[in-house]
Amino acid sequence: MFTRSVRNSFVRAGPIRLGPVVSKRLYSQAQNGGINHKRILIGLGLLAIGTTLYGTTNPTKTPIAFVEPATERAFKDGDVSVIFVLGGPGAGKGTQCAKLVSNYGFVHLSAGDLLRAEQKREGSKYGEMISQYIRDGLIVPQEVTIALLEQAMKENFEKGKTRFLIDGFPRKMDQAKTFEEKVAKSKVTLFFDCPESVLLERLLKRGQTSGREDDNAESIKKRFKTFVETSMPVVDYFGKQGRVLKVSCDHPVDQVYSQVVSVLKEKGIFADNETENK
Ligand code: C5P
Ligand code: MG
Repeated sequence: MFTRSVRNSFVRAGPIRLGPVVSKRLYSQAQNGGINHKRILIGLGLLAIGTTLYGTTNPTKTPIAFVEPATERAFKDGDVSVIFVLGGPGAGKGTQCAKLVSNYGFVHLSAGDLLRAEQKREGSKYGEMISQYIRDGLIVPQEVTIALLEQAMKENFEKGKTRFLIDGFPRKMDQAKTFEEKVAKSKVTLFFDCPESVLLERLLKRGQTSGREDDNAESIKKRFKTFVETSMPVVDYFGKQGRVLKVSCDHPVDQVYSQVVSVLKEKGIFADNETENK
């Protein structure tokens, strides 16, 4: 194995390490009759082997990267149980979370709800910015959303709550990585899959009574685009790690809910002896 790797790197290293500068000098010396061709070839060969072996055996050749101390997560593994809940706008995330809250004692934290509350909070310096992002269906800068979530988790944790459904989050790769690095690691992501036509119909209906400034045709179009381009990569990222539980949500609420419970049980999120309405 060693020999093969040396040989492979020799093949790769040859033309790169022995670039035009070396070859040109040896070539002109040969032209002047100073060195014969055989000696040039032997010289080149030895130089290539030498540089390759040096590169393979001398780890200090690469500059030593500065290793940052590991940052502590706000919640240690085992302290809390976090489930991310994702799906297009109107997929029914909130409805399903509400059922899990009453039946299994989860705390439901909706990133969108927290942002809307912050937007309305008197004296908030982020209110205007949040409003603009929400109307445009864009993702609010992660610092704001993560701070709101962390604060809400801490308040609940102090009251003894340890199970969290984090709904509508993470909606962008940076949110996913920062949250798992600095706040808590998630167990799984519950992903509600739904055709866009169904979502559109639901959202327009909801818009008649919701009073939300983004439940209108123009904002909905922008939210769909953001979901596909920015949020789906997060689902794919966790999916590749085997951490996504997909549920099809184009069904009546109770049917979707029984799928939710069964995938969570399969994954061992609920204890075997755990029953509903505890
Ligand atoms: O989840 P919900 O539909 O309530 O989110 C409404 C809006 O809040 C999103 O369209 C987006 O502008 C903002 N949001 C965000 N980051 C999140 C969740 C929501 O920027 N993680
Ligand atoms: Mg919601």
